[in-house]
Amino acid sequence: MAVARLTLDPSFSVGTVDPRLFGSFVEHMGRCVYTGVFEPDHPSADADGLRTDVLELVRELGVTTVRYPGGNFVSAYRWEDGVGPVGDRPRRLDLAWRSLESNAFGLNEFMRWAGQAGAEPMMAVNLGTRGVAEAAELVEYCNLADGTAAADLRRKHGVARPHDIRLWCLGNEMDGPWQIGSRTAHEYGRLAAQAGHAMKRVDPTIELVACGSSDGDMPTFGAWEATVLEHTYDQVDYISLHTYYDPERYDEASFRASAVDLDGSVEAVLATADHVRAKLRRTKRIRLALDEWNVWYKSRLVEPEDRGIEDTPALIEDDFTVTDAMVVGNLLISMLRHADRLAIGCQAQLVNIIAPIRTLAGGPAWRQTIFHPFAQTARLARGTVLRPALTAPAMSTGRFGEVPAVDAVATLDGSALTVFAVNRGTEPIPLQLDLRAFGPLRPGEHLALHNSDPRLTNTAAHPERVTLGVSRSATEVLLPPVSWHALSYTIEEKS
Ligand code: AHR
Repeated sequence: MAVARLTLDPSFSVGTVDPRLFGSFVEHMGRCVYTGVFEPDHPSADADGLRTDVLELVRELGVTTVRYPGGNFVSAYRWEDGVGPVGDRPRRLDLAWRSLESNAFGLNEFMRWAGQAGAEPMMAVNLGTRGVAEAAELVEYCNLADGTAAADLRRKHGVARPHDIRLWCLGNEMDGPWQIGSRTAHEYGRLAAQAGHAMKRVDPTIELVACGSSDGDMPTFGAWEATVLEHTYDQVDYISLHTYYDPERYDEASFRASAVDLDGSVEAVLATADHVRAKLRRTKRIRLALDEWNVWYKSRLVEPEDRGIEDTPALIEDDFTVTDAMVVGNLLISMLRHADRLAIGCQAQLVNIIAPIRTLAGGPAWRQTIFHPFAQTARLARGTVLRPALTAPAMSTGRFGEVPAVDAVATLDGSALTVFAVNRGTEPIPLQLDLRAFGPLRPGEHLALHNSDPRLTNTAAHPERVTLGVSRSATEVLLPPVSWHALSYTIEEKS
């Protein structure tokens, strides 16, 4: 049987894990907000209508940062609709998803929820149907203490202390023709630079994310980033990338190797950012915000034009399999591998919409398969990322040709060493780990996710069907086909 060999050394350092890598995303879409995080009539709801059963799972998931309120939704959103007395809030037609938006949940409710979840907010402004003034005014509402109309309005709404939101997205997927108010790269770049300039005049301490491409497959990928950054380089701190992997788009092996594509897209965006840096003769380096990523059975999406207008429709509530969970674990490995420049990650989305957490209205909440690799990576990946020297048997894919069937990365935090690995092939592969550079090691837990049926899912009726196996880590382990692993070790103190 062909084996994989992995060698690690403390000096194989890539960078430091930014906790913001383990972010997520709450959009006013389908049942993410309504009957997802917010359901006043639910038996578990608190006095603010927040589902505490969902909050518990969100905390267990270890989500650090949550992007809000969209997504496509933000591009026609008026943030003023979602603040102030709930009885006075308008009911609107949301143009992105052609749904009815009651506005019962808005900015201040989200901030209360984020506080309960222990997550940092990442707020998006509407640069689709709105512009510079509304974006700057939103920062004023959120971040100024008092003494201006917008700050005093927040106080009137019962929020005395500023929300102090650090992280802001300048619109969403503005390169996409589906986006309400989509723009050319020049148009968007100029608008984003102006909005960012005004927003930083309100609060110079905020950090800004410019929209990169909606996908590495967009026809403007690369050129879009270059043009947008030429306009915005001095204002922004991050360029975004969105990427979703559809299990049904290519051959199955290509889907299992999706992280190969993510590696390439991340490196292409960073190279483009550095090209602009050189062209503009700047010293600052732009970092990457992968602020939407996940597995998504996108070919099953019914486009908004093809649906009627509905109130809280069940949209893209994909059931994730064991294979999907392995791919999510591998995408997290790819993200860690780029930890020197990839600073923010938001898995899209958090609840019900292609999410690790699912709910039934009035009923239970449960963990999807993809919950497990995310939660464990968020818990264990701390400190310094180490890039292993790895040799592995090859697997063939329609899209990428031959690729290694095993992928891995490691983190080192004091004496805690964790190796994250996947077998994305269909044969079992023994993994031999050479960890001699660390001296004597005490084996810890070996967490593994796999199943003889990789199509298995968790459902409301079978919420624990796919869960983690726990054994003792070692320096030789067998990686079953289509499996995800976290292997922990403690470095013994030298006497
Ligand atoms: O996450 C679902 C949708 O995917 C988001 O609204 C949009 O930004 C992306 O295209």
